[in-house]
Amino acid sequence: PQSLRALGTLINLPIGSALTPQDITQWASISGGQFSVVTGANAMKWETVEPARGTYDWTDADQLVAFAKANHQLVRGHTLLWHNQLPAWLTAGVAAGTITKTQLWGLLEKHIFTELGRYRGKIWQWDVANEFFTDANPSGVNPNDWWVVNAGEGIIAQAFKWAHQADPGALLFYNDYNVTGEDGTNAKHDAVFDWVKKQRDAGVPIHGVGTQAHLDTQYGFDPQRFQQDLEHYASIGLKIAITEADVRTFVETTDSNQTPTDSLAQFAQPFEYSAMLQAAISVPEVISFTVWGWTDADSWVPGTFPGEGYACIYDVNQQPKQAYFTLQKDL
Ligand code: XIL
Repeated sequence: PQSLRALGTLINLPIGSALTPQDITQWASISGGQFSVVTGANAMKWETVEPARGTYDWTDADQLVAFAKANHQLVRGHTLLWHNQLPAWLTAGVAAGTITKTQLWGLLEKHIFTELGRYRGKIWQWDVANEFFTDANPSGVNPNDWWVVNAGEGIIAQAFKWAHQADPGALLFYNDYNVTGEDGTNAKHDAVFDWVKKQRDAGVPIHGVGTQAHLDTQYGFDPQRFQQDLEHYASIGLKIAITEADVRTFVETTDSNQTPTDSLAQFAQPFEYSAMLQAAISVPEVISFTVWGWTDADSWVPGTFPGEGYACIYDVNQQPKQAYFTLQKDL
């Protein structure tokens, strides 16, 4: 049987993964052999690249881009404007009032031009803005978002404009979770759809929507709604990327093998991965399908959702799970 990347290439759908530095150094044959597009799990985030004001650390980002080049892979840049993983000097400075609103705009502009300038022409897609809508009341951009509070909502459109100037060839994405009905409702999908449409009508260079697609076998995932929501974005000329697919489930926290506590989860998981991929394949505007890490050994899930895990397509020992074989069959 062929690799996911070889099979994806046959139908012109790049298959990708987020990579940690460990994925690159320890498990290069899978990270390079199975995927044709890669994303830094943390490598390109602001706190990583500028840990002290004016002091840059491109170690992880350079490593990712070099790995992609060596393995003939595309790169998804992630992410420029997000309330999480901001450098401490930035959040502390804003909190203390030593960084004013005007200076904050200037710092973001510099951040975007510096990072996109460094990798100009090497990044296929950029997640410019990430997670600006809440689940609870998604009628518009979250008024309590750190950026909205400190810089004003207009910073989001401006970030897209700066990114477009800094690297005109990159496709620019708005990226978020629960925007394709993952939680069983369409409220957030509708809010993001309306906002993105409004921005595009106003000439803001947003080329696509990234649906993170973090699923949980506990939620009522609806494959039909997922596909309809992809088609809805496509209907206004947006490209779509599945950016962070994974399917987590409850596990014994003491079990380092991350065995699901619900025995049906091992069937639900491949089903849900498969349903997402099939929807992606059937909507031509979907231009890439990326999983958020391929091995349970270094997935973000156990650290973020206590008591959950088993989210990836390979197990903790880098052995392919049923989810992997299902994707391979679908391709
Ligand atoms: C996660 C990383 O995988 C972790 O290593 C890090 O500790 C926290 O961030 N949505 C996103 C990603 O857009 O950037 C997040 O990545 C996962 C949720």
